[in-house]
Amino acid sequence: MKILFLSSTGQTGGAEAALLDLLAGLRASQPQWALALVAASDGPLVERARTLGVAVRVLSFPASLARLGDWALGRSAWARVRMGVRVLAAAGPAWLYLQRLRRVMRQEAPDVVHTNGLKMHVLGSWARPARTRVLWHLHDYAGRRPLAAALLRRCADRCSAVVTNSRSVAEDAARVCGPDVTVHPIWNAVDLGRFAPHGPTVDLDQLSGLPAAGPATVRVGLVATFARWKGHRVFLEALARLRSSADVRGYVVGGALYETDGSQMSIEELRRDAAALGLDGRVGFTGVVSDAAAVMRTLDVVVHASTDPEPFGLVIAEAMACGRAVIVSAAGGAAEIVTAGHDALTHTPGDAGALAMAIARLADDEDLRVRMGRAGRATAERAFTRERLAREFVSVYQALATAS
Ligand code: GLC
Repeated sequence: MKILFLSSTGQTGGAEAALLDLLAGLRASQPQWALALVAASDGPLVERARTLGVAVRVLSFPASLARLGDWALGRSAWARVRMGVRVLAAAGPAWLYLQRLRRVMRQEAPDVVHTNGLKMHVLGSWARPARTRVLWHLHDYAGRRPLAAALLRRCADRCSAVVTNSRSVAEDAARVCGPDVTVHPIWNAVDLGRFAPHGPTVDLDQLSGLPAAGPATVRVGLVATFARWKGHRVFLEALARLRSSADVRGYVVGGALYETDGSQMSIEELRRDAAALGLDGRVGFTGVVSDAAAVMRTLDVVVHASTDPEPFGLVIAEAMACGRAVIVSAAGGAAEIVTAGHDALTHTPGDAGALAMAIARLADDEDLRVRMGRAGRATAERAFTRERLAREFVSVYQALATAS
């Protein structure tokens, strides 16, 4: 069996982290399979996939295509016009890229092509050699992005199967792709050895340029890319409203990651928001920290605050695996992977008051934090193993490869 993976980026956001877990799981369970990856930019994904023994090549997107995002659609008329101009500017270079991708796919001659990222779903479907099966791995709700949905619908007859990261995304994908495409929900996994309760920690205060917090300080952090819907503002507002007897310090961990324009906030914007809320000295901005597991272990409470339904929420699963107390914005796939009150506390997306109450509950009750952390780790060991992830994918790949 030979699988060719196509990734729209070499950076490692959630979708790429999930891909790395899958590659690691497949390497372990199917050592004889050939795994190859084409990434549309250089970055940590490339190095880490190589370390796993995957044959990787970087086939960089032209700049106009890399920058193209569909976030602007559905907003102002002006945004739509700008988007239209960008699509036109990207069309020629995208066509040339398609030809190059087609050549690479012919050379690689895979049994199955697995695409990660909207641009690769589309380009991979168009560049696919005859009789090669294409599987789209959907990590987000295409139905919420009009351009994405329209593109996928148009290419759906070139795709043989869709895998989604949750049942919630599967329902959306079925609506977008229509009745002829089989959709398989498969939850992500985490590396339970790396994301474990014990191991190295990091100095979040130093990274944030803050004086060292006292020993009794409860550290509460939002670990996320700077996409606008990840709820940074809700988190900051909750910290500003917090009524807790404990000494709480907040941390915003992460940065702007992707190349698409306008879909992300900047650290300056967030610092301004924090200052306006009177949070100076009470919240630190660490920037991107490569060792996410060490970050989780340093935090007492990990907050997830997405304002839109979260497709899966890898950070939630990672925090649970590290035995941390987590607070989850309960919608979409994120609501599927936790049991409220048992292995997580939940709040309604966008409700800063409810989030503040959940933070206060955990900040004030160490026993509760410990109990939640233990329950989270147990859930992770049961539900988020790489073995389970690989097993479920292997059966989809095998069905595709043997289908006539
Ligand atoms: C995307 C989703 C996120 C998910 C990740 C991995 O980044 O937005 O919810 O955890 O993909 O599937």
